[in-house]
Formats: sequence, C-alpha cells, structure tokens
Amino acid sequence: MTRAEKLTLVTGYFGVQKDWNDYRFEEARPQSAGVVLGVPRLGFTPQWQSDAGSGVATQGEAPPELERTVLPSGLLTAATWNPELAERAGAMIGSEARATGYNVMLAGGVNLMRDPGNGRNFEYGGEDPLLAGTIVGSLIRGIQSNHIVSTVKHFAFNDQETGRRAVNVVIDEASARMSDLLAFQIAIEQGDPGSVMCSYNLVNGSYACENEWLLDQVLKGDWGFQGYVMSDWSAQHDTVLDASHGLDQETGVSKHGKYVWLDKLSAAIDKKEVSEARLDDMVRRIARTLIAKGAIDAPVQPGPIDFAAHARVTQDDAEQGIVLLKNESVLPLATSAQRILVVGGHADVGVLTGGGSAQVYARGGNAVRGLGPKGWPGPEVYAPSSPLAALRKELPQSSITWADGADVAAAALAAKKADVVIVFATQWAAEALDFSLTLPGDQDRLIEAVARANSHTVVVLETGGPVLLPWLDRVSGAVEAWYPGSEGGPAIARVLSGAVNPSGALPVSFPRSLEQLPRPKIVGEGLPAGQTFDVHYDEGAAVGYRWYEKRGQDPRLPFGHGLSFTHFTTDGLAAALDDGELRVSFRVHNTGARAGAHVAQVYVSPVAGGWEAPRRLGGFAKVALDAGSSQDVSLRIDPRLLAMYEPAQHGFHITPGAYQISIASSARDRGTSVTISLPERTLRAGAREQTCEQTREQTRQPTRPTNATTTPAR
Ligand code: BGC
Repeated sequence: MTRAEKLTLVTGYFGVQKDWNDYRFEEARPQSAGVVLGVPRLGFTPQWQSDAGSGVATQGEAPPELERTVLPSGLLTAATWNPELAERAGAMIGSEARATGYNVMLAGGVNLMRDPGNGRNFEYGGEDPLLAGTIVGSLIRGIQSNHIVSTVKHFAFNDQETGRRAVNVVIDEASARMSDLLAFQIAIEQGDPGSVMCSYNLVNGSYACENEWLLDQVLKGDWGFQGYVMSDWSAQHDTVLDASHGLDQETGVSKHGKYVWLDKLSAAIDKKEVSEARLDDMVRRIARTLIAKGAIDAPVQPGPIDFAAHARVTQDDAEQGIVLLKNESVLPLATSAQRILVVGGHADVGVLTGGGSAQVYARGGNAVRGLGPKGWPGPEVYAPSSPLAALRKELPQSSITWADGADVAAAALAAKKADVVIVFATQWAAEALDFSLTLPGDQDRLIEAVARANSHTVVVLETGGPVLLPWLDRVSGAVEAWYPGSEGGPAIARVLSGAVNPSGALPVSFPRSLEQLPRPKIVGEGLPAGQTFDVHYDEGAAVGYRWYEKRGQDPRLPFGHGLSFTHFTTDGLAAALDDGELRVSFRVHNTGARAGAHVAQVYVSPVAGGWEAPRRLGGFAKVALDAGSSQDVSLRIDPRLLAMYEPAQHGFHITPGAYQISIASSARDRGTSVTISLPERTLRAGAREQTCEQTREQTRQPTRPTNATTTPAR
C-alpha cells in the first residue's frame, strides 16, 4: 500500500451533510456518524459508520430523519438478564444497519453506572460487570453476525457527561480491573467486537485515546485484542501520543486544519516521531478486522427491511425487560369491564426514547414535537407507539379514559371516578448532559395527587435510569419501562394486562436519596468548558449494590429486584469444584398458577471478608417455567469474580479459604446459602474466560421445596 492509501484507512470524517462540516463527501451515507474513505484499488469499500446500541441512528440535527426499528434502551435489554435475547436484538439492529448501507456500528456501550444521573446510562448495561459485560457482549455478537463491525465503547471510565472531554478519572489499578475494565473484558470475550472506541475523558492523567496503559498494556497487551482502536468523535489531542500509545483510527473529523491524521501523521512519520511500522500495524488491524468480520467478502448493500419481523424482536425485548417494581394486588388489570384512567407521559401517542448520537427515530417519526433542546442532543423524541391505544386493544371490555396530566387537580378529580389509574411518568436523558434524579416538572406532585384520590394507582416509568420514587409507599403498583422501543406501547399494555408475565429485573439499584451515592452531586458542574478537573473514584470497585452493602445502606430498590405474577422458589443449592472450577447448582420451581420466568442470581462472598464489598454477583440464569414445573440449573462461576486483582502479581488472585455461595432474587435478598472451601489460585490479567455457561435440565415436577428462596407473588 502507498502511504496515502494507508492514511486513508486510518482517517475518519463526520458523515453529516451540514454546512459546519468541512468534509462533505459524496461517499458518506446521508446524516451518518462517519465515513472512512475506501481504497478501491485494493477492494476496500468505504467504512460507513452509524450509531448505536438501540438501532440505526439519525445523526446530528435531523431532518431528514431516518426511520428504523428502535430497540429498547441498553438498560432495558440488560434488565432482561437474557443473553440469547440480547443477541437476537443485536442481530436485528445489525441487519438494519446492513440494509441501510452501514458496515460499522458504533454500538456496545458498556460503561458501568457509577452515577445514576449520567445522561448516557440508558445506552449502557447497568452497574454490574458480569451482567453488563454478558448482555452487551451478546448484543455485539448479534450485530456482527451480519458481517459488519461493531465497537464496544467508551473505553474507559466515561461514566458522566458533565465535562466529558475534561474530566480526569482517578482510580487505582486493582479497582479499575475489577469494575469497569472487567465489564469491557467480559463484553470483548463474549462479543469479539472488531473495534474498541476510546473515550473523551482522561484516566489517571492522560486522555483515554492516548493512554498507553489502557490501550497498549491492558487492551492490546493483557487482553490480546486484535481489532482496532477508534477514537470517539474527534477525541484526539496529540498525533504522536495517540499513534504511539495505541490509537489506530482517528474519527469524526469535521474541520479543516483542526486535527487530521491524513496530514499530521504523515508529517510525524517523516520526522520519525512515529514509525512507519506503527502505521502498518494500524492498517493491518483495520484491514484484518474488516476481512475477519466479513465486511470485505460480503459488502453491505442498501436493501429492504422486514419491519414486521423486527417489531416482534423489539417487542420481545421490551416485554422481557420491563420490571414490575411493586404490586399490591392491583396488577394484572382485571379483564372484566372496569373504568381505567390513563394519565400523563404522552401515553396517548407514544413512548420516550433516549437522545444524542444514539437517537433512533421509529417509523412514523416523532410523536411529540417541540419538546427538549432544539439543537443536538435534542429534541425529545417519542416513538409513535401509544400505550393508551394498546391498552384499549388489550382490554376491550374496559372503559379507558385519558387525561394528559397537565392539570394536576383535574387529573386527581378524574382519578376519583376510576377503578384503577395508570400514571405515566417520563424522564428524558441524552448524551452530553447529566440529569437530576427527580422526575422533571410536576410529575411527582401529579402522582401524589392521583394516589391520594385513588388507592388503586399504578405508576409506569419511562426513564433513562434510576430516579427517586418519593411516592412509592403511597401507590399500589409501579412498573419501570425504561425506554421501551418502537413497540413499547403494546409491550407495556401486555405487561399491565397480564398477557405477558413480567420477568425483568433491575440491572441498577435505585437510591433512596442522593446522600446514599458515593458522589451526591456530579463533579464538575458549573466549571468553565474545557477546564480539566479530577473525579476520584474513591468507591473503587464497590459500584452500585456493592457500595450500598459495604456502607450498610438500604437503597429504595435493590439491584436484581423484579416481581412476577407467579411465585418462584429455589432449592437444592449445591456448590462444588469441578476440574478446579466452581460450579453452583440449584433447582427453580414455579409454584404459582401461571407460566413465568425467574431471574435466579448467585452471589458470592468470602467468609473472612477482604473484598471491596461483602458480596458480588457471581452468576445468573433466567429460567422460564410453566406453572407447576421445575428446572435444574448449573452455573460455572467466572473465577475472576472470586478473586481480587493484585497488581504485583499482574493477575487475579483467589485467596484460599471459605466462601459463601447464595442463591437469591436480588442483592437485598439473603436467599439460601452454602459454604465451600476454595484453593488458592492466580489467573493472568488477560485470562480469557467463558462466563456464565449454563447447563439445564427441565422437568415437570410440581414439588414444594423447603428452605427456599422466594420471589414475592402478586
Ligand atoms: C459519541 C459516540 C458516538 C459518536 C458518533 C460521539 O459524540 O460519544 O458514542 O459513537 O459521537 O456519533
């Protein structure tokens, strides 16, 4: 390859055809995130890049809006605890990317939730490295099954949007390896993404995209990553440092003279500041990845999309990830005729979606115009999928009326005349912003007023992540529907009506108050743009439920929590060493009268303590059971989850001794436990693991176990 050809493959431009973009190439797909020009002589088509994890996005300041199937938010998909479903969901959006002419999908967001107010939490997989890594890895695997490349992002510690280009995250190595980096490591093992997108922020003093420790030592060294590192959009700062420390592709260039590898890298090579061999390595990584993923042999071609089939996938995802938070005999809604009042949240026309570069417009466009910021990352976009219409369809015998909730007193008055009231409450979240955990506007007041007027009040939340629930004790039911995607209306209606038995479980804890958080206030608020500041991750690897338990705090809703309309028990818990690996087995029973699915969670903890927190999620299984049936589950526990990272040993170290293994239905539930003695063991920092492998035997055996863990029934 000539130098010019090599430089072509390592330089990416913003794809939008707007005046502010100096590089408006004909080759770019309309309103796309980016394009890397091709090298036709060698058979390289352009790399056409599109966001993101919940479908093919419309980039920057639509119109024109590209209408595509919207998957539920990443957090909802994590709430399914179902890797197989996540893979199918990924395959679906990947096929739409392919059919839209994209061969690189900027998906795979796996940053751990350290701050519930982070405006991008909706794009990610929650607060636990095993759950987030497994679900996001499965999504990536699905996307890439379409012979296209997916990223995993944003590497690493890009856990707040406030000052995202200026924040310097300070964290010690062991904590880093046992938390956010472990989530990335698992996602990479599970999904084999072609590319890793480095993030805007600094980590321990150097920008993520020029961070030698992150890129060269951990990712490419310890983990043996063979793909290429692309920068987040114009996240580069210094040609020589970027190129020498592991960045392989610059992206998102939009301004002449600002920072374009095409010119600057070439000059740096001429001056011997960067070696030609390093450029060859970048190009080899990119070319290898495009070939390995099939993007060269099976070039993408715009084509038809089977929207009807894709609607079933996104609805399935939504139905499995909606979480029943509370239910005092109010759900499922009775099918006999009754008066139901639906209030608020624009539930008459649609469901909310998340904003920013991940913004996907559903077919039919935006159901509610004029909300949120006028420019990017706005506006607020509602997918035209009405929960109200879907409820009317589900419950034809009921009389279902509507109030928009703008007039709190009028809504409360109407509530008095209903048998049941469903209040929809929304919180928009988007890239580049962080959000208050208090529901915006008058929504808390509306819920309180309606709940006072009618004791059968159910709240349906559509939020980016956790919010404060000051009224939870005063309503009789609550459901977290996150951003439920383009079939969110029917999915919500079917959960409320009982056509679907809810089976989602929280992938994040909901705090009682801001004071419970490691950082009650997001650091860096109010600082002048561009002024670098530190955020100290003093909580280390004690993220989410681990933090609460370590501090002896009880969150409002615990990680792993999710109710069902049936009743599950577990028994027969046993732990054994099998060829040196810890294997945990148990039996799950559906003792209720309906089919349903249970998220069985295995927590592990050293009896003598010494970890960052008392216990960790060690494994999980989502078990679907007919009424009265049972299933045996056997899980292998990833040894890294039984270990502490020891920098001096450059690996994960299991201290010999007694470990408690519990089967529980949330991080709060103590469940039942057994103890096992584990021998000492050290694993290399980059040891590749098969996580959460399961074997199952299903039997129909309506037994009533003793000494069992239970999930509360309705
Ligand atoms: C976001 C990335 C995204 C990129 C391209 C950036 O602002 O941080 O997640 O992939 O834009 O749209």
